[in-house]
Amino acid sequence: MYYRQLTNTTFSVGAVDWNRRLFDELIPLPDGTSYNAYIVRGSEKTALVDTVDPTMADVLLENIGRLGIDRIDYIIANHAEQDHSGTLPQVMERYPESSIMVTPKGKTLLEDLLRIPGNRILSAEDGTVISLGDRNLELIHTPWVHWPETMVTYNREDRILFSCDFFGSHLATSGLWASAEPAVYEAAKRYYAEIMMPFRTVIRKNMEKIGGLDIAMIAPSHGPVYDNPSSILDAYRDWISDSVRNEVVLPYISMHGSTQHMVNYFIDALVTRGVMVKPFNLVSTDLGELAMALVDAATIVIGSPTVLTGPHPLVVSAAYIANMVRPKARFASIIGSYGWGGKMVEQLSGMLTGLKATFLEPVIAKGLPTEETFRALDRLANEIQEKHGSIMV
Ligand code: FEO
Repeated sequence: MYYRQLTNTTFSVGAVDWNRRLFDELIPLPDGTSYNAYIVRGSEKTALVDTVDPTMADVLLENIGRLGIDRIDYIIANHAEQDHSGTLPQVMERYPESSIMVTPKGKTLLEDLLRIPGNRILSAEDGTVISLGDRNLELIHTPWVHWPETMVTYNREDRILFSCDFFGSHLATSGLWASAEPAVYEAAKRYYAEIMMPFRTVIRKNMEKIGGLDIAMIAPSHGPVYDNPSSILDAYRDWISDSVRNEVVLPYISMHGSTQHMVNYFIDALVTRGVMVKPFNLVSTDLGELAMALVDAATIVIGSPTVLTGPHPLVVSAAYIANMVRPKARFASIIGSYGWGGKMVEQLSGMLTGLKATFLEPVIAKGLPTEETFRALDRLANEIQEKHGSIMV
């Protein structure tokens, strides 16, 4: 993507990756992504904020060249993950006078991950201000969004917050501005669910830390630039809050129909009690959609048949991910079936220790569900209705 102009002194020089469909060989990217990098030209010095994934190094270098820049004084590395840092070696080679500015933890990571010589990297303490002449960049440490070394950079004069992954969205678009891109909210929520949700508590602290800044734009390193920053700030406040929806997320697998029969009955039992349900048949579930549903739901119920002695492997994978993203669900349970025995419930519940949820009594059928199974599902639905009623305002 050709460079685009944010202000008189700030340019977006990164790359749009229209075709990428997986991140970390795990996270689906239905709408592609972008690796944003920004040039800030002061009256005396020039800074580059972040770089791009190394697969797109040529786009970044070409855009910097198009701007006629022959000297970069500072390369600010807000984050050491390779989709933002991976092109640092090429930029350093092209601009040998440049110094990299990172947090102290970032310095170690860049040395380890990219083997960048330590003498080219400057550790920046929290609150360090870099003067470019008529523009000043403040480096603000915001750890754990989503690595330990992460920071954001604030352009004091143009009131732009360069937030890197924080507030980002995996969205390939030719548009620069989020206000003109209706898909950005959904993409940002998906991004939060997949990447940021495990760090909900620390995000609150970082939100407070940047709360005093006068921000005209938030320029993340994935997705469009927020020209109306309150939209994404309000969305984040909602996602990181403790409030939950009257909703059950129900990821499941059925092999021979027993668990599917239970799931069908259970959905009706919840809906007739006024509880919303989001079922996900894991045979064809986009894990990002499942993660997004977990942002707000009050309860997660996992449905599985028994394979040999344990849960179905696709359920194991979904349970592992649900546990890893640490959703704010208050309640959890398991439903499912078995043929001749096993420890499906014990194994699954043992995989969900990261959830700070109260476990409700599971419902397990031997073979096809019976009337007794359906009464047990009614009991579980009653309990969920009651529990949700007790926590909703
Ligand atoms: Fe976009 Fe944590 O890298």
